[in-house]
Amino acid sequence: MRRRSFVKVCALGAGAMAAGPGLLFSSDLVRREYSRVRLVDFHGQPLRPAELSPQRHYVFNYPYLATPCFLLNLNRPVPGLNGLSTEQGDRYAWQGGVGPQRSLVAYSAICAHKMAHPTTAVSYISFRQPRNGDDPETGVISCCAENSVYDPFRGGRVISGPAPQPLAAIVLEYDAENDALYAQGTLGGEMFRRFFSEFEARLSLEYPDGDAARPLEGDVEVIPLERYSANIMQC
Ligand code: FES
Repeated sequence: MRRRSFVKVCALGAGAMAAGPGLLFSSDLVRREYSRVRLVDFHGQPLRPAELSPQRHYVFNYPYLATPCFLLNLNRPVPGLNGLSTEQGDRYAWQGGVGPQRSLVAYSAICAHKMAHPTTAVSYISFRQPRNGDDPETGVISCCAENSVYDPFRGGRVISGPAPQPLAAIVLEYDAENDALYAQGTLGGEMFRRFFSEFEARLSLEYPDGDAARPLEGDVEVIPLERYSANIMQC
């Protein structure tokens, strides 16, 4: 599948949306609003939380055409968390899980160290399920480039490795009335400016129309990481 066909943009239907759990941000510096996009499945239908297999990594692009994010169903309620901090020292609180079980979380899939991220060819960063003997309701986001490990249950904070800050979180919203999911912003230390600068040459080949940094709006498709990247590195 060509990357260009991955994102489907169409008009976002109007309608009241119930907000997810209350957000208690400690600093506006680390929350950025982007267009609210509706997450949809392969058929362009609203993505139902029940469609998301527990402990499996899904990917969607947001807030730009070429910036991938992880969507995870952690299979248990995930409370919010205070006291996270960006590399610059801006402190913030994370919203926790959303959805019927409050188990759905999303993060930028751009590693906060040297920005390894899923591409069509390979992904060095992925959700790693619990191993034998581990608590089955655990799991980490692991970057095999240089072994940064993040905790998806705790706002993407760094568990180990060289990453200087948590993964940027994607602010999700669950519309209970219509059983639909939306992304509407980011929280934490974004890497997008560096991302577009450092990977400019490759992105210009992948997006010959020069629209890699086009902000998304409308509907955005969510797919399993296995369909997004041909090879998923394990470590
Ligand atoms: S790029 Fe992910 S650990 Fe270095």
